[in-house]
Amino acid sequence: MANVIVIGAQWGDEGKGKITDLLSRSADVVVRPQGGVNAGHTIVVQGQTFKLHLIPSGILYPDTECIIGSGTVIDPKVLLEELAQLHALKVSTQNLFISQTAHVTMPYHRLLDKASEERRGKQKIGTTGRGIGPTYADKSERTGIRIVDLMNPDELKEKLEWTIKYKNVILEKLYNLAPLDPQSVIDEYLDYAEQLRPYVVDSSLKIYEAIIERKNILFEGAQGTLLDLDHGTYPYVTSSNPIAGGACVGAGVGPTVIDRVIGVAKAYTTRVGEGPFPTELHGEIGALLGSRGAEFGTTTGRPRRCGWFDGVIGRYAVRINGLDCLAITKLDVLDELAEIKVCVAYELDGQICNHFPSNASQFARCNPIYETLPGWQQSTENCRTLEDLPKEALNYLKFLAELMAVSIAIVSLGASRDQTIIVEDPIHGPKRALLDVNGDPLSVTTDE
Ligand code: IMP
Repeated sequence: MANVIVIGAQWGDEGKGKITDLLSRSADVVVRPQGGVNAGHTIVVQGQTFKLHLIPSGILYPDTECIIGSGTVIDPKVLLEELAQLHALKVSTQNLFISQTAHVTMPYHRLLDKASEERRGKQKIGTTGRGIGPTYADKSERTGIRIVDLMNPDELKEKLEWTIKYKNVILEKLYNLAPLDPQSVIDEYLDYAEQLRPYVVDSSLKIYEAIIERKNILFEGAQGTLLDLDHGTYPYVTSSNPIAGGACVGAGVGPTVIDRVIGVAKAYTTRVGEGPFPTELHGEIGALLGSRGAEFGTTTGRPRRCGWFDGVIGRYAVRINGLDCLAITKLDVLDELAEIKVCVAYELDGQICNHFPSNASQFARCNPIYETLPGWQQSTENCRTLEDLPKEALNYLKFLAELMAVSIAIVSLGASRDQTIIVEDPIHGPKRALLDVNGDPLSVTTDE
């Protein structure tokens, strides 16, 4: 039995949806610990595309229980749309459970998110506009509405009457926006509440019971390490903790129940929204990565900024999450390139900097120091083993593994489930395997 956290090792959109979908096959329970409808997973199963924002991709497996945990923020309207989409595709949702202590995204959160972004002008964060920051801000301010409040109509009315009055002052006086009508918001959310009621549980208890029963639990992180509120590129981050430690907090489990942490990183780097991005490519190659990688946000449709793989960030992700291994996705996107660059360190104020600087203004001044590797200029889409890969592609993977001192357990070469190389069992393979005796991190190693 193993309890596994899967997290994004870059700025989100690393292809976690596909990796968690693969690992969900052996999971009894999948938990989404944090984030809200800012996330988006696209999963392709037998040519059919599923776009999920809140519901874990494990829902596609009929026997897998899926839990939306306490650390998430739930937009009921979007969640109900997702449920409808799944029902239309004849996917059962009877194994979906929603935490009663998750916070609820309200209409004023969405309005305030957009209005504050506009007000910031050049200082904007480039949020998804889904009300995520304001929902988490209310949670911290202790004025949030939780799912449990939705389940108690009288309390909900009382809380919302007070809160909407207060939010209306901000909407009207600060942002010059029309006030919300409390009664119509109350009616709308009472209707959502009744539709969601059958799914609502004490999620941390449910997860605990699964632990006691020695079930396999997969904790499916949303966003990525560099978007972490505490450890990311603040202020250009999201408002939750997408790192491995955040999964424990959001799910409501102790760190001792976690057996393994798997990071997911693209073979290059992307970022959506504002903020420093040292390896960003503005020219032809960036555009090529964007078009070959179909780099458009699942939630907003915004084009993602693209750049070379950043090994400094990779090392940071290994450290801050305690990664046992990595899944590298979208290797095939690099297929056409004659040369591929990898950032191995930064130049910061004339000095070499090997570590991600947690000081935001220092990070903004970092320039990448690259090593250039030969490309392979042939398709890898149909490779199914490491031996099938062109030798330059294999060398590229070895280079990344050595640079970050972490083993690469999975390589993904396309959106479909079968376009995958399993290098070693990511769940039962060696824990925190670094380099083997030959200095070769990619070789399959024996049990712990
Ligand atoms: P928010 O989470 O909507 O507040 O956005 C804050 C920052 O996180 C912005 O730069 C967003 O583009 C980014 N972000 C939020 N969710 C995701 C995601 O799922 N993938 C990639 N970037 C995200």
